[in-house]
Amino acid sequence: MTESRIQPSAEEAARQEYFMQEARKETEAVSRKLGRPLTCCIHTFGCQMNARDSEKLLGILERIGFQETEDENADFVLYNTCTVRENANLKVYGRLGYLNTLKKKNPHMLIALCGCMMQEPQVVEKIRKSYRFVDIVFGTHNIFKLAELICRRLREKTMVVDIWEGTDQIVEDLPAERKYPFKSGVNIMFGCNNFCSYCIVPYVRGRERSRRPEDILAEVKRLAEDGVVEVMLLGQNVNSYGKTLEHPMTFAQLLRRVNEIPGIQRIRFMTSHPKDLSEELIQAMADCKKVCRHLHLPLQSGSSRILKAMNRRYTKEQYLELTERIRAAVPDISLTTDIIVGFPGETEEDFQETLDVVRRVRYDSAFTFLYSRRTGTPAAVMENQVPEDVMKDRFDRLLAEVQRISSEVCGRDVHTVQKVLAEEPDTHLEGYLTGRMDNNTVVHFPGKKEWIGNILDVYLDESRGFYYMGHVQDRQGEDA
Ligand code: 5AD
Ligand code: SF4
Repeated sequence: MTESRIQPSAEEAARQEYFMQEARKETEAVSRKLGRPLTCCIHTFGCQMNARDSEKLLGILERIGFQETEDENADFVLYNTCTVRENANLKVYGRLGYLNTLKKKNPHMLIALCGCMMQEPQVVEKIRKSYRFVDIVFGTHNIFKLAELICRRLREKTMVVDIWEGTDQIVEDLPAERKYPFKSGVNIMFGCNNFCSYCIVPYVRGRERSRRPEDILAEVKRLAEDGVVEVMLLGQNVNSYGKTLEHPMTFAQLLRRVNEIPGIQRIRFMTSHPKDLSEELIQAMADCKKVCRHLHLPLQSGSSRILKAMNRRYTKEQYLELTERIRAAVPDISLTTDIIVGFPGETEEDFQETLDVVRRVRYDSAFTFLYSRRTGTPAAVMENQVPEDVMKDRFDRLLAEVQRISSEVCGRDVHTVQKVLAEEPDTHLEGYLTGRMDNNTVVHFPGKKEWIGNILDVYLDESRGFYYMGHVQDRQGEDA
């Protein structure tokens, strides 16, 4: 089946509804026996895509009758894993040991693992052999099957493993339980076709598949009706959205359509690949008032030689020129990025090229990563892997530069009034709220819990490097 013929499977959603009901009967029986509601705890590793998947998984678990808790001493514990870098894997193995001790005390406890790490055959082998107390293992392509897998585990009483190598199926209309009532991620595409030479994502998330625009727009409309004011359009490479659809549509066209939906006030998107970022998209960003003035544009390296070895398909000069064009069209935009240090063969000169780009672009913030060797990727078998001490030294120097620049850049709006979406109670200051500006900068300000979910006018009193302290103004410009 070609990707252009992907159809959302309504039948599959109905099948899963059946399994949710079946599983619910079981949980109700156990709950009656124990005289308390059953609890579930989902721990999410990694990126925004995983965070969104976890909301869908929680939606299913709540439908089955589990109540969410933060405590891992729960009746159903699910780890949604990441495998982009080795240390994410190590964390999972470490925590599994702890879960085993909890399970010994609670015989009703079920432990499930899903996500990118489970798409690696050697990981599943290790779990089968050394972590036999795990109950359910599934992957990235079949999260919609959670209820069915739970039913199977209850019936078969042994570890249930269901990993798909790939899929052309996109199942619409499953329940999802949003973490925030006022903002939500929306998947627009799954998978990645880029095969950057260091990256494991194309192997674990499969080939690029776009959701149909009518399904995406219907979901955003539903969210708006349900009180959502901010959506984040999600995909590994949103700039190549729509290429494989039956009626192809560009990402820029999709953005304009989302911009028209009443009730939605802010639109964000992640992640953009520089090689696919079109002039049409830059124009759409400039035209669409709801599109946030923030662009995450992964650089990975500033050296054209290393970029070539990474299979990124742009040069340092092309990247710099692209950022200039974006800034010309959207002058107050904030740019953020991802950078890897220590890719095989990276010399001090190459590293200096990366520092040079960082100094020229002046990012609001940058996620910096030590190169991590991922089995199965072309870079893993490249010669001249960079020694760890050299890598760490470069990493520290890069981080210092990124932080120095970002503390200068982030303070640029101090003493102005900005629109801030109030997101949650401040975790450190009693009586304060934490919110985000349109360009994603965090602001702390005194406020009431009832304001959460509203976009407020906030005067920025003080810049503290990466965030502001402010206070709310009323509509007349008077202090609240
Ligand atoms: N090692 C280090 N960082 C990596 N990333 C992806 N693969 C690797 C790897 N093997 C980083 C990239 C990407 C981000 C999500 O993770 O910078 O943009
Ligand atoms: Fe990985 Fe490159 Fe695809 Fe991003 S674009 S997910 S870095 S292969």
